[in-house]
Amino acid sequence: MKRFRPAKLSGVLAFTLLAGAFALSTARAQPQDLEAGQEVYQGNCAVCHGSEGQGNLGIPNLAGAAGHVKQLGVPLDQAGPAMVKMLREGIPGNMPAFPPDILSDADIGKLGAYLFTLAPTSGDNLYVANCALCHGLSAEGTVGPPLAGVAELAPQMGMTKEQLAADFPNLVRKGIPGKMPANPQLADGEITDLFEYLWSLPPVPAPGR
Ligand code: HEC
Ligand code: HEC
Repeated sequence: MKRFRPAKLSGVLAFTLLAGAFALSTARAQPQDLEAGQEVYQGNCAVCHGSEGQGNLGIPNLAGAAGHVKQLGVPLDQAGPAMVKMLREGIPGNMPAFPPDILSDADIGKLGAYLFTLAPTSGDNLYVANCALCHGLSAEGTVGPPLAGVAELAPQMGMTKEQLAADFPNLVRKGIPGKMPANPQLADGEITDLFEYLWSLPPVPAPGR
């Protein structure tokens, strides 16, 4: 199982730059470019990031890229070369490099434009991509504490749903230094969907019961 590495932070930065470039290319993209971009995506990225960019266990969602750029407040102008650089170099230990004989600069532009059209994915997918590695597929807790059953636990903690929901965006975006990665790119709607998903999860029974 992939373990959390500090590289996640550089991944977020890379994502920022990548998504910025996508915005630029989207402005000029023609329908046939988006189709070509989808093909590039399916052939090179979907195996890890999911057929609809929804992410996968420990692999970030790329769907919702437009909202991520907005959330991060990325200046869109100097992003193109950085995007190409990220895919050319890959993310050591986590993501393969894509040299020019596999993806041309034009391919990357179309890929970016396509990704920029993908709507955000659902709360359960966001959970699997960004949280399940440490909190368990059923939120039963592994490296991090269990998150399932929060709706039943909240009254015992003296918290209302509204109070927990109000604290949640800050926790998710900032993480917990040294313990839990930051996800500054997630848009308000994604964080709400993630919270509602967790709130809906019943408690996980203790083993042997
Ligand atoms: C072998 C699996 C694999 C493939 C194939 C792959 N990636 Fe990734 N990608 C990852 C992993 C794992 C990460 C998380 C790295 C980290 O957190 O440091 C990642 C991170 C990213 C990020 C940063 C996102 C963030 O929020 O941190 C972007 C953007 C990205 N990939 C785009 C792509 C694109 C575009 C393609 C296809 C050209 C692709 N990836 C192909 C595994 C893959
Ligand atoms: C790299 C592992 C890791 C990932 C990924 C991770 N967490 Fe955590 N999380 C932890 C650990 C470890 C703790 C306990 C920290 C402590 O004891 O101070 C924690 C604590 C929490 C808490 C309790 C915070 C508190 O104040 O007590 C919540 C809620 C939470 N995580 C939600 C999430 C959500 C939502 C995601 C996905 C967006 C996520 N975590 C991703 C490791 C992780």
